[in-house]
Amino acid sequence: MRTVLIVSFVLTVYSIYHGHSQENSTDALFGQDSLMDFLKLDVMNETETVGNSGNSILPESLNDTCTITETNGTYFCSCLIDKNNSGLWDFVAIRKWVLNSSYEFQFDLKCVDFSMILLPWPIKAKNIDFVRVKSCTITGFFTDYGNPYIETIPDHLRVMDISNSIVLIGLKDLMSMVTNFREVTEDYNCGNDKTLQTLIYTNVTYKYNMDEINFLKDGQFENSEDDFIGAGSNMIANTRELNHRCTFSELKQIDQSTSTSKSRYFLSIQTELSTFPKLTFYNLSNTGQTEITKEFKTWWRFFPKMKLLDLSYNFISTLDLDPSAYTWSSFKIKIDLRFNNITELTQSDLELLGSLSNVNVDIRNNPINCECSDHMIEVLEIIHDDTKWEALGLHRYEYLKNMTCNLPDILKERKLSKITKSDLSCPLFSASSPAPIIVLSICIVILIVIIILLTKFRKEIFILTYTRFHIILPCQPAEVSENKTYDAFVSYSSQDEEWVSKTFKELETSSQSDGYHQFRFCLHHRDFIPGKTIFDNVIDSVESSRHTVIILSKHFLQSHYCMYEFHEAFQQSIIERKRHMVVVLMENIPEGELPTDLKRCLKTFTYIRRDDSIFKDRLIFAMSHKARKETKSTNKNTVTDGLDNPVFSSSEKDVTLRLQTSRPRHDDSVITLSQIVPDLVVGHNESKCNGYTVA
Ligand SMILES: *[C@@H]1O[C@H](CO)[C@@H](O)[C@H](O)[C@H]1NC(C)=O
Ligand SMILES: *[C@@H]1O[C@H](CO)[C@@H](O)[C@H](O)[C@H]1NC(C)=O
Ligand SMILES: *[C@@H]1O[C@H](CO)[C@@H](O)[C@H](O)[C@H]1NC(C)=O
Ligand SMILES: *[C@@H]1O[C@H](CO)[C@@H](O)[C@H](O)[C@H]1NC(C)=O
Ligand SMILES: *[C@@H]1O[C@H](CO)[C@@H](O)[C@H](O)[C@H]1NC(C)=O
Ligand SMILES: *[C@@H]1O[C@H](CO)[C@@H](O)[C@H](O)[C@H]1NC(C)=O
Ligand SMILES: *[C@@H]1O[C@H](CO)[C@@H](O)[C@H](O)[C@H]1NC(C)=O
Ligand SMILES: *[C@@H]1O[C@H](CO)[C@@H](O)[C@H](O)[C@H]1NC(C)=O
Ligand SMILES: *[C@@H]1O[C@H](CO)[C@@H](O)[C@H](O)[C@H]1NC(C)=O
Ligand SMILES: *[C@@H]1O[C@H](CO)[C@@H](O)[C@H](O)[C@H]1NC(C)=O
Repeated sequence: MRTVLIVSFVLTVYSIYHGHSQENSTDALFGQDSLMDFLKLDVMNETETVGNSGNSILPESLNDTCTITETNGTYFCSCLIDKNNSGLWDFVAIRKWVLNSSYEFQFDLKCVDFSMILLPWPIKAKNIDFVRVKSCTITGFFTDYGNPYIETIPDHLRVMDISNSIVLIGLKDLMSMVTNFREVTEDYNCGNDKTLQTLIYTNVTYKYNMDEINFLKDGQFENSEDDFIGAGSNMIANTRELNHRCTFSELKQIDQSTSTSKSRYFLSIQTELSTFPKLTFYNLSNTGQTEITKEFKTWWRFFPKMKLLDLSYNFISTLDLDPSAYTWSSFKIKIDLRFNNITELTQSDLELLGSLSNVNVDIRNNPINCECSDHMIEVLEIIHDDTKWEALGLHRYEYLKNMTCNLPDILKERKLSKITKSDLSCPLFSASSPAPIIVLSICIVILIVIIILLTKFRKEIFILTYTRFHIILPCQPAEVSENKTYDAFVSYSSQDEEWVSKTFKELETSSQSDGYHQFRFCLHHRDFIPGKTIFDNVIDSVESSRHTVIILSKHFLQSHYCMYEFHEAFQQSIIERKRHMVVVLMENIPEGELPTDLKRCLKTFTYIRRDDSIFKDRLIFAMSHKARKETKSTNKNTVTDGLDNPVFSSSEKDVTLRLQTSRPRHDDSVITLSQIVPDLVVGHNESKCNGYTVA
């Protein structure tokens, strides 16, 4: 069966105009001599001497079949062929019979129950110019293939009209043709191209002579089946390598409508090496076309005189015409696209229709989809706007307004001119509308900005929400209450005393009134216990304070006492492993002027600049920050503060060292005040740091 399918494939490609080429693969195709013998051409040995022997116009066997009427030197033979005279009508015999006649012969054959006639293609006979066949079974269609005799007959046929018929194919004939491809003659290929005016070949189906199928089952051939398939596709490819053109110089109309078996290539094969200078009408209605092929898009190249192209009842779904058509062809052409599968009309379709002034397209009876879409909205706008309609040159297309919708169901059969945008039931934000995308983009941008701001000012936000709104945001370390006398010990140089007492006393009083952050500061001029040594005072104050606020200024750095306080506090933070120190930077101090410890301290502890716009909030926040998360970092020897800044790293061996030493330290990097100043007793306003006196 596969072979049969391939044969039908070849045949549909071949439908009428047969290409041929120097097929090379045929020798390899059937290696067996016996098969080659079998397929050898039976060239008909016709001579011109056989002819009408009597006075009978037609062979006497056709007396009952055909009625002959004569007009002006033409015999019009109308034949009704029934089962009783099936096969009697034999074109080969008739063309001999009529040879010497001075009359023209025209045959109008009607068959009953698909009776058979013998009609080899191309229909060439000296005196026959018209053959019409209806409802017949045509045999011998390929038998004239390779017949040198038919080349001696000049073209004469004007009208070939075969419809609703069956072509019965002898597999042997067909395969002879396929295998002896190179012997296809130009005449055979082009048919009656010099004289044919009308070619009608509609609703013709092919059937195979099943009697001959048996030989396919012959063992020899079975093995060659694949070769045969190869030959079939080679043949298609090689039809494109014809070495001559067919010029259908008189052909005015082709009707190849109603064929379900047209190959997609047949039109290309038909047009590529042929010219149709006079063709005005081409009917390809109901032939399964799925697109407007390139031959028809640029019809002026192949069919320069075309006036009517019937593509109705196909499956074409796009109105795909060449926008440059009007520049190429000055002839008016009508393209019938009714009853196709065009579901979508777009504004550009309408623009195209309007602009192609020489083309008239009929797209009625297509299943227009009126579901909500941008295209549909645009099209409706144009339909309802007469000035736009005119501007696009659509006055020739009034029928468009009468076209009806196929989908959705509620709009079925409604005319386009009778529906409005609101009937399309578009969602408020249709997926295709840009509004949601814009809104979404804005939201995303805003979100990104918020995230950036949050990340950048995370700390400030924490601080302000805490100090102003008393909200402790998540991710902040929990407060741990400790029994400390002071919230902070303030270490400052006496030069800064005025600012310090003003600022911190203010903080104390305001914090008492607001009730949330109640602070008590240890200010040495107020809170140091007289009589104790300064060292003891400092140590006690630092230990009994949760924090030490370092008021860092140039004066601070110059004061040994201050530095002593600093180191004491620094050590306290190490011992307590807490964010113990808060550094207030009073002025810009070049890094070079800072001692190593202080430098490191500024790196690891957050410091607050006096000129900061939310200085007080930061200060309150820092001091309310009573405990900080202690990470389990013994392995890595790394302590991180609550905000993930590494405080100490294992490389800082001296830190570990100091943890082990007891106060006072005798460490190079630390100023050992006790060595320099043996006894310091609290006094009044005489000392360099904090105003306590040196005894
Ligand atoms: C034809 O076939 C022969 C050998 O089988 C090869 O040498 C030659 O190139 C072929 N010619 C064409 C045109 O394919
Ligand atoms: C055709 O017929 C002639 C004479 O009848 C004969 O000599 C010739 O061999 C035949 N040709 C073929 C191909 O049969
Ligand atoms: C066929 O018709 C012709 C005249 O049209 C007549 O001479 C001839 O005898 C008829 N033959 C038969 C077999 O009827
Ligand atoms: C027959 O032919 C002549 C001239 O060729 C013409 O004048 C006449 O009209 C024709 N008659 C018919 C019936 O076609
Ligand atoms: C066919 O011929 C037979 C006798 O030969 C006859 O009885 C029959 O009516 C004929 N059929 C037709 C359709 O003419
Ligand atoms: C047919 O015409 C040819 C010449 O064209 C001639 O040789 C032949 O004898 C004629 N045959 C008949 C049957 O008239
Ligand atoms: C096509 O031909 C068949 C017979 O071969 C016939 O039954 C059918 O009605 C024809 N179709 C059309 C559309 O003419
Ligand atoms: C084309 O062929 C179809 C089917 O055979 C037929 O219905 C239609 O009328 C033809 N078109 C024209 C314009 O004749
Ligand atoms: C018609 O076109 C639609 C898509 O536009 C497709 O889904 C459908 O299969 C087509 N119908 C036919 C018969 O080709
Ligand atoms: C559109 O339909 C209306 C009413 O059915 C009719 O009067 C009008 O002629 C039609 N227009 C076209 C261009 O078919």
